[in-house]
Amino acid sequence: MGQLAPQERAHVGKLLNAVKTELEAALHARKARFDEQALAARLDAEWVDLTLPAPGQPTGSLHPITQIQTEIEDLFISMGFAVLGGPEVETEYNNFDALNIPADHPARDMQDTFWLADHNLLRTHTSPVQVRGMQRFGPPLRMIAPGRVFRNEAVDASHEHTFYQVEGMIVDRVVSVAHLIYFMKTMLSHIMGRDVTVRLRPGFFPFVEPGFELDIQCFICGGAGCPVCKQSGWVEQLGCGLVHPNVLRMSGIDPEEWNGFAFGLGLTRLAMMRYSIDDIRLLQSGDLRFLNQF
Ligand code: PHE
Repeated sequence: MGQLAPQERAHVGKLLNAVKTELEAALHARKARFDEQALAARLDAEWVDLTLPAPGQPTGSLHPITQIQTEIEDLFISMGFAVLGGPEVETEYNNFDALNIPADHPARDMQDTFWLADHNLLRTHTSPVQVRGMQRFGPPLRMIAPGRVFRNEAVDASHEHTFYQVEGMIVDRVVSVAHLIYFMKTMLSHIMGRDVTVRLRPGFFPFVEPGFELDIQCFICGGAGCPVCKQSGWVEQLGCGLVHPNVLRMSGIDPEEWNGFAFGLGLTRLAMMRYSIDDIRLLQSGDLRFLNQF
């Protein structure tokens, strides 16, 4: 502009302004067309069929241990048992003393215990619920008590510090080992969905006399021997026996008049058997890829 003659400046300035306006208008128009096209393409790609049913919430599923626990509860309820619960933080008395395991008894070493303050502990088994049941209801008594228990274990594929058991107890006038075997076979066959073969071995638990370990024939190999049963053909399933007179007496029941049986079943191990789970740590991993299978 500086080099133009003064009389030409107005004319050229006007012309340049007109060109600028025209170019801007063209630019805006083209931009608007691109925007329209982009919107049209998006609407085309992202359309929604509102007539389709909504996908809904994904449904969860019960944990495998909860499933087995519920089945056992239903079975025992149908046979006239009460389902009792007890606290996970127990007294030393209920967990040990009242079960005929005094403070200086070596049997305490069988259960590596998480001790808390004031003679409390994380219960090492569900057996203290026997004590609570006897004290609360007295005889005759038919109860089971499923629940979580704790031991100070070094964790590996077959050991957890936290696992599940089901306790069971009958106190009545005449209770024999035959009754015990009947209930154990009924329970295990029900859970496994087929007849199971069981065997009893002598087992020591201070709160029963006689005491047994009950095994079931391995049904991975049918008793021939395999890695799951460590080539023995049998898998240890539970501890049981006839209730020790001291245990009845300590909970105010006269052993001259009443007797009973008790058992403690490892629910965690049972779930692993039933679903062929080879690592106990999976059960509490919270891993949905594992849990979604059940
Ligand atoms: N409480 C025992 C344990 O955890 C199992 C058991 C229960 C044994 C009842 C006998 C009777 O090892």
